[in-house]
Amino acid sequence: MSNSKIWKGNSTFILAAAGSAVGLGNIWKFPYMVGSNGGSAFVIVYLFCILIIGLPVMASEIIIGKYGRKSPINSLKKISIDFQLNKGWKYLGVLGAFAGVLILSYYSVFAGIAFSYVFNIFPSGLENPSKYSTNYFSSFAASPLKLILWHSIFIIFTCFIVGYGVVKGIGRSVSFLMPIFFIFIIMIAIYSSLIGDIDSTLFFLFNPNFSALTPQVIVSAMGQAFFSLSIGMGAIMAYGAYIPENQLIGKTVLSIILLDTFVALIAGIAIFPIVFSNSDLMINAGPSLIFETLPVAFYSLPFGNIFSVLFFVLLSIAALSSSISLLEPFTAWMEEKFKTERRIIVCILGLLIWVIGLGSIFSFNIGQEIKFFGFNFLEGLDYLTNNIMLPMGGFFIALLTGWVLPKSFLIKYLNIKKSLFKPLYFSLRYISIGAILLIFLYSAFL
Ligand code: PFF
Repeated sequence: MSNSKIWKGNSTFILAAAGSAVGLGNIWKFPYMVGSNGGSAFVIVYLFCILIIGLPVMASEIIIGKYGRKSPINSLKKISIDFQLNKGWKYLGVLGAFAGVLILSYYSVFAGIAFSYVFNIFPSGLENPSKYSTNYFSSFAASPLKLILWHSIFIIFTCFIVGYGVVKGIGRSVSFLMPIFFIFIIMIAIYSSLIGDIDSTLFFLFNPNFSALTPQVIVSAMGQAFFSLSIGMGAIMAYGAYIPENQLIGKTVLSIILLDTFVALIAGIAIFPIVFSNSDLMINAGPSLIFETLPVAFYSLPFGNIFSVLFFVLLSIAALSSSISLLEPFTAWMEEKFKTERRIIVCILGLLIWVIGLGSIFSFNIGQEIKFFGFNFLEGLDYLTNNIMLPMGGFFIALLTGWVLPKSFLIKYLNIKKSLFKPLYFSLRYISIGAILLIFLYSAFL
């Protein structure tokens, strides 16, 4: 692999993978999932899944990517040839590449909304900013044309960066944008805690309340863990293909997971105090939650408009650093397969994703009532990708590294102390796989 396709320095891979992991999943989705799924019960299962399932699956993805040094589909193909395995393993990469395209189709709708909020300055002197905020979002969501416009803009940005090449396109920008984003979200959390109801927030997030623990909550928490860490579909595997040869994988995985979890929890602490102190805002508002709450917080802040613009710029960038990792696996594979220019490939894929995204856009308005099995298009796609495709991908990745490939492969590529390797290997072979299976079976008999 040429040097131009290797991340420059160890920290760039961590930041790029953290850039993939940290995104709308942490700031937009985690708070609303917690809000709609009973609070602490969801948080506890989520943290359990991150540690028990997320850590070993992420390490496995990086190892496969690093070994193959190609797109996930071809890295898996190479592994199956080198280790004389069943040829079918490459379809694990195919499943992931499709999951990426499907997720991106609705991810870009919400990322587009987030980007539009950069330009959403509240007029001064409002009597009831919360009401203004909820009304603003409802009228925005009711307009297919507005949603299509921002969805298109976001897809164009994503395709532009991926077309330029991930290492060149993203490596440099994440190095300085991610740290700014971290500092900013911490500042907002401190501010919300000071002006809002932090006691109710901490109680809601961390006081164990297992009566809210339903099979549905458990399945959603696992799906969210996969989504938030960007695992189960090859995004991290695709990035792992560009990892420097001597980078330590154990430490790298730990840093990415800690960063991602920290940002999700901080986002909760930034958002819930405002909701709890404001009777017009609903904790279980669902996907509209951050769009209705955060502008209200900014409104009451001195220089709030400037903060609001800055925040939504950074959120859009965080979303962009995730969306490119959703597009990368399919693009890298097509580039290898058809030996065609990346720019042409992303144009074709971008168009396809744009069209699928229309289904999600119409789920907000004209297609809201069109349902299959009780789900509208957006809900169905979200369920299919997060709760089925990603965990299924994670299951087979863990099966491959934990049971099919020789232990020596893992020892060599993980390169961690024996005392750490043992529990990780055990967790990979039994606990991660067992937990995913159990959760699946549990949800099948809901
Ligand atoms: N992890 C991203 C987020 O939390 O916003 C979303 C995502 C990116 C999911 C890449 C899956 C993926 F492969």
